[in-house]
Amino acid sequence: MGATMRRDLTRVVLAVCLVFALFLPSGAASAVVDGYYKVAYGDDIFIVDDGVARRIDFQEWADAGFPSPQPAPTEYVRYPWSSAIYALTRWGDDASTWLWDWLSFSEWQRAGYPAPRPVSWIPGSYVYRWGTAPEIFVLSEDGVNHKLTFDEWAATGFQAFDDRTTEGWAKLSWSTPVARMSDLASGQGYPVTYEEWRNHDFPTPALYQRFPGDQFNRYIGDVTIYYSGPTMSRAITYAEWGAAGFPAPNLLTRAPVDCSRVACVALTFDDGPSANTDRLIDTLMQLNAPATFFVVGSQVANRPAVVRRLQAEGFAVENHTYSHPQLTLLSLSAQRTEVERADDALAAANVARSTLLRPPYGSWDGNTRLLGKPLILWSVDPRDWDGRTATQIRNHVVTYTSAGDIVLMHDTVAATVSAVPGIVADLRARGYTLVTVKELVPGMAPGDVVYSRNQVTPATTALDPFGATLRSPSGIELGPVVDEAPF
Ligand code: NI
Repeated sequence: MGATMRRDLTRVVLAVCLVFALFLPSGAASAVVDGYYKVAYGDDIFIVDDGVARRIDFQEWADAGFPSPQPAPTEYVRYPWSSAIYALTRWGDDASTWLWDWLSFSEWQRAGYPAPRPVSWIPGSYVYRWGTAPEIFVLSEDGVNHKLTFDEWAATGFQAFDDRTTEGWAKLSWSTPVARMSDLASGQGYPVTYEEWRNHDFPTPALYQRFPGDQFNRYIGDVTIYYSGPTMSRAITYAEWGAAGFPAPNLLTRAPVDCSRVACVALTFDDGPSANTDRLIDTLMQLNAPATFFVVGSQVANRPAVVRRLQAEGFAVENHTYSHPQLTLLSLSAQRTEVERADDALAAANVARSTLLRPPYGSWDGNTRLLGKPLILWSVDPRDWDGRTATQIRNHVVTYTSAGDIVLMHDTVAATVSAVPGIVADLRARGYTLVTVKELVPGMAPGDVVYSRNQVTPATTALDPFGATLRSPSGIELGPVVDEAPF
């Protein structure tokens, strides 16, 4: 402010002239003669004795014999930016003795609607400055805020201002809403309406790329980034995220889905990771579609970064054995080795060990149920590995899927990745909520055989896998459950 003042010395001189021009009465400013005075806008009677004015009550006036008061030397003033009218009664040159009253409409009416004169300073006004811009404001008794120009501030006689350094007004450099900041250091504030900003006479907001403590969040499996800060809480665009400097979002867990209340479907993808998996991850994230990936251990060893990405983006990563053998041809210990090697490959890639097992070819026996995981089969198989087009895959899934189904697909198949946007759109259009297998079938136990939400054979139930006929919940015979995909 010091530099500004030096730069504006000429204006100071002009402004000081202005303040006197506004304050000086049209006539002389000499003291009123002693006697009784009454203001035109009310009943108050004053006595002026030796140039000192004092308000008297009725008794004192009566004791004095009801002397006729003279009209008080009142003039009517206002701030140029406000319609509120103040009565200024000056008994003499000493401003500390002046009487200021903010008039109600009826008081102004009683005074005969005098035209107010604009003035530069009305005592009782609050002068302040926010911590976010070097602007000085005045708040008059009538509740009107006004941003003072330098000249206007000079004309007040350079009233000292309350320096509210911890508070102010701010906005993001990449977004429009303005916040009233109650604490700048901690980023505390709330968004204001245009009216509220205008009522404070448009304090210039400080620009922030980020606020202290603001949040960038993303739900697992959802590419959308949600911003939460003092000016707003909403999903932001990629461009806005970039303008904020691409801060790493917090990864939030999706709200849990209760598949006993909503119609759920689980999409599953086998035999990866493959050269197509990244494109599938991108696709699913754009669609905010969760999925479960049954990965092959030897492939995990080839593409550990892709599996890490699967986990980081919140997809379920589960076990499809290490080398994709038909488990029923193996001994119990050889089966166990296949499953454990796959988990070891996940661990080597810094991915959590699996909790679910999908036996290759859907082929399992009593030994497979002893491997410590539920066996996850499927109830919808578009045979995507069999040279089908994306359209055929999509049509099959949409035609045969109903609530509770587990859909088998392969991220090794490029046409499948191409079919996914249509599949997701069609299933959602039919009211299905996409979930992971664990969400679809909560409470699975090791040795359970799970075809769908509604077709679970508990581990305690003996079941001849070769004699089983799989039916969809609607009763359609699904044929032998064999995943013939050469991974
Ligand atoms: Ni497979």
